[in-house]
Amino acid sequence: MEYALPVLDDQLKAIITEHPTPFHLYDERGIRDRARLLQRTMSEAGVPRFQNYFAVKALPNPEILKLLVQEGMGADCSSLAELAIAEMCGLSGEQIMFSSNDTALDEFGYASSLGAIINFDDLSMVQPYINSFGAPEVGCCRFNPGDIEFGGVNVDIIGNPREAKYGMPLDDMIAAYKQLKEAGVTRFGIHTMLLSNELDWRNHEEIADALFGAATAIAREVGINFEFINLGGGIGVPYRPTEHEFDLRGFATALKKLYDAHDLEHIGSPRIVMENGRYITADSGYLVTTVANIKRTHKVYVGLDASMSDLMRPALYGAYHHMSVLGKQHDTDLEEVDVTGSLCENNDKFAIDRMLPHLEVGDVLVIHTTGAHGHTMGFQYNGKLRHAELLFDPGGGVRMIRRAETLEDYFATLTQKGNYHVPTN
Ligand SMILES: Cc1ncc(COP(=O)(O)O)c(C=O)c1O
Repeated sequence: MEYALPVLDDQLKAIITEHPTPFHLYDERGIRDRARLLQRTMSEAGVPRFQNYFAVKALPNPEILKLLVQEGMGADCSSLAELAIAEMCGLSGEQIMFSSNDTALDEFGYASSLGAIINFDDLSMVQPYINSFGAPEVGCCRFNPGDIEFGGVNVDIIGNPREAKYGMPLDDMIAAYKQLKEAGVTRFGIHTMLLSNELDWRNHEEIADALFGAATAIAREVGINFEFINLGGGIGVPYRPTEHEFDLRGFATALKKLYDAHDLEHIGSPRIVMENGRYITADSGYLVTTVANIKRTHKVYVGLDASMSDLMRPALYGAYHHMSVLGKQHDTDLEEVDVTGSLCENNDKFAIDRMLPHLEVGDVLVIHTTGAHGHTMGFQYNGKLRHAELLFDPGGGVRMIRRAETLEDYFATLTQKGNYHVPTN
């Protein structure tokens, strides 16, 4: 896997002059190309009426969702804020899938007012929803098969299905669909999300097999048909140079074969839906930072002007993100370093024992594959604030689509404030 920037080195230097580091840079062309590739490959393989609902949590910025809506996607939302982003982008009705868990009634209320497809995470939520908002137009439930063996599943991120808090077992699914049917629902969908960042399409195929089987069993038992089957997100991207691209064509072909083998036309010829986030935007995001300090003690620590408030994945999951240094991409004389942020947290490290070119203060270091579950996971511990998001469009240059947070933002929720004076340079 080769890691390239969407801009030339000089272009990036010019961007930095106007927008000081750190910032997340997203490549519009890359995002649109990926959206088109997914749609085209599924259609060419004959996967019935495929549509991706972009998982808004992966990159919750309306400017990004808007361009994905232009590419034909819906929105997969799991919170009030994500529903609001979908509404900002003009989405409503069945172009929004609300896949929440541990859901508060006000969240259901907002989703219901938008006409979103409600994806019930548990049997215990169905009747209270119906009591408060009436029967939904479409009844959808989230399946968790419990014990299931998948070679290669990235359990670090999503967990073993039995240990995962999401979804319900088959018996509860059947009971939930019966309740929905009794409440007058006539249109149904089914959902699962069991994989995260999985690069092996055979594991996605196994999930589809399990879900198609469950859908068939439920349809027979409850006496219903399904309009859609939602396989969740979870298509992986190569974070490491040793990893390969996901074989989308292999997966799409297997999906079509599986669809036919399960005779899904007998349960209503459901359309196939996914809710990938990472696969759409991860590769097109770059965290652009500057080396602020270099410390040589027991190890060499390269301190950046970004911290884990900008990118949590390495600290949270030990995730690998590739790095390149502007102007030193081809250096072969490397040094082993830890790349850190400035939080008072020893795990505020973007990389441990990484071989990088010899760095100096002021070098620009780009962290790759940060376009999904990157900026959005940030937090404000230590008062370290989240930085800006920029969108690069090869035709129109760069524009800011979210400004950096300020101290005023950080203090905005205090009920009592004193005066403070931060000198500006
Ligand atoms: C319900 C649901 N759908 C979709 C996604 C998107 O996953 P990914 O970005 O890995 O495709 C997630 C991720 O957490 C999720 O929880």
